Amino acid sequence: MDLLEFAKGPALQVAAYILVAGSIWRLVGILLLKEKPDFSEPRQSGGLLAALKVIYTRSFTASPFKRATLYPKMMAYVMHLGLFAVVFLFVPHIMFFEGFLGFEWPGLPNSVIFFLGVAAVVSGIALLVRRITNPVLRLISNFDDYFSWFVTLFPIVTGLLISVRMGFRYETLLAIHILSVALLMIWLPFGKLGHTFLVFVTRGTTGMVFERRGAKT
Ligand code: HEM
Ligand code: HEM
Repeated sequence: MDLLEFAKGPALQVAAYILVAGSIWRLVGILLLKEKPDFSEPRQSGGLLAALKVIYTRSFTASPFKRATLYPKMMAYVMHLGLFAVVFLFVPHIMFFEGFLGFEWPGLPNSVIFFLGVAAVVSGIALLVRRITNPVLRLISNFDDYFSWFVTLFPIVTGLLISVRMGFRYETLLAIHILSVALLMIWLPFGKLGHTFLVFVTRGTTGMVFERRGAKT
């Protein structure tokens, strides 16, 4: 078995199992956490609507913080939207998904994907520079922050390298690309990248708790 066969076969398969099982394990672990009894009289009802409201409102920054957070927020949006487009709107990727989903959807031209990939990498680097140069951010950052950053950017960089080639064999670059994706899939459920699925749980919980206390959300 050569490197590409290993990457396309067992590596990707094991990574997919770990991604699914790890995400379920973490979600169930958090959802089953024992809640402390709250004997106070609820000021408002809480409930699903309060959860959905905060999931929506937290997509935007509260006015007093708008100016101070504009730059990292923009960078984070470019990185996330770029990543989304590159993964789900690149035609060869769509063909890969079609292989097991059985249906396809329209993609973007390769040149647009390449541009968005570069934009995602540049904004990712800008976020890293900010993390290292801002004293407070630097103090509260740990291995998880840096490793999560690395495994996010690595597949985009290896994907872009396939197009650039630089004298390397296509098969070798593709194998490295797929292995970098496998690394991301394996790490995603366990570290801070778990925010991919936990972000809605945490924001929803905040919404319900705040509503119960009568806070304005
Ligand atoms: C601009 C960035 C990227 C470019 C240019 C790119 C390019 C490519 C190319 C050319 C292939 C080979 C398709 C084929 O020959 O079948 C591929 C496969 C793949 N890429 Fe990317 N990629 C990028 C980013 C990503 C990212 C960020 C992910 C996931 C996080 C990803 C996941 C995959 C997967 C799962 C495959 C399929 C492997 C297979 O056929 O088994 N790619 N990519
Ligand atoms: C539903 C999907 C997701 C949502 C709603 C989301 C939301 C967020 C938010 C709100 C932040 C904080 C940004 C800030 O500092 O202003 C963040 C940071 C980050 N996200 Fe996501 N995210 C999602 C998926 C992902 C995925 C799939 C990845 C990578 C595979 C990812 C990688 C990152 C990284 C690396 C950071 C840290 C950036 C930094 O160093 O400041 N996110 N995300």
